[in-house]
Amino acid sequence: MDHFLYRDGVLHAEDVSVPEIASAVGTPFYVYSTATLLRHFRLFDEALAWGPHLVCYAMKAASNQAILRTLAAEGAGMDVVSGGEYARAKAAGVPGDRIVFSGVGKTGAEIRAALEGGIRQFNVESEPEMQAISDIAASMNMTVPITIRVNPDVDAKTHAKIATGKSENKFGIPIARAREVYALAARLPGLRVVGIDVHIGSQLTDLSPFEAAYRKVADLTETLRADGHAIDRLDLGGGLGIPYTRSNEAPPLPSDYGDLIRRTVGHLGCEIEIEPGRLIVGNAGILVSKVIYVKEGEGRDFLILDSAMNDLIRPAMYDAYHDIDPVLEPAPAAETRPFDIVGPVCESGDTFAKARQMPPVGAGDLVAFRSAGAYGAVMASEYNTRPLVPEVLVNGDQFSVIRARPSFDDIIARDTIPEWL
Ligand code: LLP
Repeated sequence: MDHFLYRDGVLHAEDVSVPEIASAVGTPFYVYSTATLLRHFRLFDEALAWGPHLVCYAMKAASNQAILRTLAAEGAGMDVVSGGEYARAKAAGVPGDRIVFSGVGKTGAEIRAALEGGIRQFNVESEPEMQAISDIAASMNMTVPITIRVNPDVDAKTHAKIATGKSENKFGIPIARAREVYALAARLPGLRVVGIDVHIGSQLTDLSPFEAAYRKVADLTETLRADGHAIDRLDLGGGLGIPYTRSNEAPPLPSDYGDLIRRTVGHLGCEIEIEPGRLIVGNAGILVSKVIYVKEGEGRDFLILDSAMNDLIRPAMYDAYHDIDPVLEPAPAAETRPFDIVGPVCESGDTFAKARQMPPVGAGDLVAFRSAGAYGAVMASEYNTRPLVPEVLVNGDQFSVIRARPSFDDIIARDTIPEWL
């Protein structure tokens, strides 16, 4: 569910009309709804209310300070995967004891910064990384809580580029080697084993891979406890999928997911952490763009937009589908015809949709990419020297630019000229 609805024939973000934002900000831009963000966070929080838990928002999905502050004020923790994300979480006022640090390649500098600023736990992904964390923590006379990310070798049944729980993926340690690696962790100084971490992939629309993974984690919890480890915390990752099309079957709800967690690991008495990103912010954001030209081609017509693959890379990168709707509501009986919907970047991959049936739209009209809040703005680049797309946050009848569009001068000024030129 989201808060982007037509009202009097015009798409609104909560109580603000999208054309009103477009005239203030220019196109293209991302706009997020506070109400949708809060709703989705609360759904997860309620789904786990049966026991101690922390919902750690995976901020890689959308990491604007205003979004982080909105969620942090609700009590969200954060899942970070880089020193930059850690700094963002801290800047948004998230206390260190609500930040978990994931990712396969934490550097010494990142580990040190998190130890200095405070951290709930590191989710350790390999033995060399564990050794590095141990060395750094011990050299600072600290003991840091860790979980070890296990790779349960289950098929998440999602796009290959976003599946992470198969043995061929780079993530975690093979679950079959877990006892050995936990034994090593117990011997190393500077580390305190507190639990187990698992994350099998993103955009899962079926609960069964989660179930398979969580059952393995439950068995492992008992084995590791028998080995003498204090397994009090289970970080079960993120990955719950969202509907990207209105015609799609609805994916499972956070409440179904919470029930599944209770069924599979609830009896262990552990504190539960989850790391949802996409479900919290995906449908809380849209990308608004303007049609520059309607180009009649040979056998196909093109809608050429002022947004491009640099602004929203998901279609080019994962063949992702996003509904693209006119901002002015089409008449119910409006005839549709197929268009290839493309951006201005000089690559054929700069295609958002092929043969998409669209109601009548013409040059100058606004369109909205639905479900663009997650992995949208954060994956944008300035390819073709197209300025990073601005972000806007709506709350009821107010809106605010939460990241401004850089000017060409801003972009050029970031380059520096060597003295010999
Ligand atoms: N935890 C870890 C360790 C992760 O690697 C991820 C996502 C998440 C949590 C959050 O997963 P979510 O709840 O958002 O599915 N750019 C891709 C998605 C990449 C996901 C990477 N990891 C896309 O646009 O589909």
